[in-house]
Order: sequence, then C-alpha cells, then structure tokens
Amino acid sequence: MFLAHLLNQAGIEAVVVERKDREYVEGRVRAGVLEQVTVDLMRRLSISGRLDEIGLVHTGTNLSLDGRMIHIDMASLTGGSTVTVYGQQEVMKDLFDAAEKRDVRVVWNASDVTIQDADSARPNLAWHGENGAERLECDFIVGCDGFHGVSRSAIPPRVQKTFERVYPFGWLGILADVPPVDHELIYANHERGFALASMRSPTRSRYYLQCGLDEELADWSDERFWDELAIRLGPDVAARLTRGPSFEKSIAPLRSFVSEPMRWGRLFLAGDAAHIVPPTGAKGMNLAVSDVTMLGEAFEEFYRSGSTSGIDGYSSRALARVWKAERFSWWFTSLTHRFPNMDGFDRRIQMAEIDYISGSAAAQRALAENYVGLPL
Ligand code: PHB
Repeated sequence: MFLAHLLNQAGIEAVVVERKDREYVEGRVRAGVLEQVTVDLMRRLSISGRLDEIGLVHTGTNLSLDGRMIHIDMASLTGGSTVTVYGQQEVMKDLFDAAEKRDVRVVWNASDVTIQDADSARPNLAWHGENGAERLECDFIVGCDGFHGVSRSAIPPRVQKTFERVYPFGWLGILADVPPVDHELIYANHERGFALASMRSPTRSRYYLQCGLDEELADWSDERFWDELAIRLGPDVAARLTRGPSFEKSIAPLRSFVSEPMRWGRLFLAGDAAHIVPPTGAKGMNLAVSDVTMLGEAFEEFYRSGSTSGIDGYSSRALARVWKAERFSWWFTSLTHRFPNMDGFDRRIQMAEIDYISGSAAAQRALAENYVGLPL
C-alpha cells in the first residue's frame, strides 16, 4: 500500500491485489513501533494526520536485567532520532482511507494468485476475484505478499539462496485496556525468560512473554500471564503494573530469514516476502517500508528517464539494509532471551554484555542507532 501511494503520487499506475478483505487486514494485531523513515514517508504521502495527533513519540527505551532498569536515551545518543508508537492496524487504516480518496486501486478477496513470465518483458498476474478469473499484464510485479505468499516461489530455486534461523521459543502477547506500566518500552531479560512491556496508546497496553513453542494458549489465563510478567519485570516495575482483562492473546514463533536476490527479471520482492526478523528489534514493518521506498525511487527514475540503474541496484541496496536489521534483530534477541541449552557461562556472558551496555555510551549508541533505524 505504501508503494501504491508512492507510485500514485508519481503519476505511475498501480494495482494492489489483496487476498483478504479490508476488515481482515485492519483487524490483525501487528507491529507497533515506527522508525523515523516510516514516519517521514507517511508525512511525505500526506497520510500522517492521525499519526501526528495520536502517535506516541519515544525519545528513549529501556533494558532490564533481573529487574534492574537501564535507560537508553536514544534521542541524545543519535543526534535527535526517535521512534513513534502507532499500531500497524492504524497505519493500514490511514493507507486504505487515502487509497479510496485518491483512486489507488485495490482488488480485495483475490484468490489463487499466479505470477507468469516474470523474466519476460511482459509479466502478468492472474487471480480469481469477485468477477471470476482475472488477468493483468504489467511492466513490473512487486511481491509484497508476506512470508507465505506466492511471489517468492515464482523465482526459480536455482537463482535463489535462502538463509534461516529458527528460535527455540515464541512470544505470547496480550492486549489489554489498562494504562502502560511505563511511558517507554521495557525489554526485560530475566532468569525465567524475556518479557516486553509495550503499548498502543496511553490507555492500551501490549505485553509479551517468551514462551515455549509447545505451549497452549488455554494454559495461559490472564492471571497466570500477569503473575509471570510481574516476576520478569521485577518488583519495582511490577509495583506500578495495572492488570486487567486481555482482549487479545496469541503466540507467535520467532524466525530470521532472508531470500536473495530480491529481484528476478521484472519481479521484485519486498518486506516479509523476502525476509523475516524476530520481533525483538521492532523492524518487520519498517524494513518493508524501506524496501518499497527504494523501489518507489527506482520506478520513478525508470518512468522519468528510462534509466534502469535504480531497478538494477534494488536488490543489493535493499539487502545491505536488510542484513543490518537482521543482524540487529538476531543480536537483540540473543541478548535478551533465555535459550533452552544455555549454561551458566552463556548466562554470565549475557549479564556481562547488558552490564557493559549500562556503563558504556559507545555500546548504548550502537544499540540506539540500530533501534531508531539505519539510514536508507
Ligand atoms: C509491540 O508493541 O507490538 C512491539 C514493540 C516492540 C517490539 C516488538 C513488538 O520490539
């Protein structure tokens, strides 16, 4: 949707083909932290009205080790960069509302999507829609269809390399209409496992607990969740914790994944179709936005001047940023989670690294500049 708006703004015709309907996409609980590049793009597309009104600007974040809090003043460490808490569901609403007003075409409920002749001069997309079988010939196809979408598999295996880490745990997340425990996020490393205190608004909290992959939601009553969260955040923070009924509860696995290259002929991959990060660095949606920002520039250059240099450079330019975000997300996950095969040595190394971060401006700066988002 970001790319469709970028192209629309540049006078380039684009059609978004979506498998689900608008209610589904807007109803799905996703990420919550926007990097500055994402906020900047929303402003550039003039869809930032609500973001500027209700987005929560965070100048810092927190690490905690067995209840001891370490504040990272991101803004002062990065020359003023911040992140903004604003749910992906809200971003989608803004994109769809603006699409309706600006005649950005979205085809909803498209099933059985296939990509044909991606390496020819005239690739085409076929699907089953509300009017039966449909087909679209185009100049380019961009696969923004997520990890389970069809576009990555349209690239022949012989030209594709994939890289993967699957983590031996998941995140159990809840949403509850209670005030957040802190005005900033808290990433907690505790002996018993990771916890994250996040939020969606001053009255809506989002909390996560690291859990086993074999655990069942049914075993996690709200009471058990709050009790465990209180332990992992430590007594000082727990004393400020407001409990309440959850209205969403789910378990998500954690994975790192990259597929190279991100282009084959006239097919381009963007976002989760090409790469997955564990949520610890809050990079998933932001990476998708940086991918399509690069693609928008490349297509604009092509249609304006006929030059294919942006298009030809897309995959390596995007992957350079993707891999740095992969590294950061992997590192931050490794630093903060309890691994099943961890021994005392591994645990002491984690504790030493967090203690080092707490006392080193250089280490804090490295964390902060990755967290707020590396330049495009
Ligand atoms: C969230 O609020 O859902 C959230 C925040 C930060 C993360 C991951 C998820 O790193």
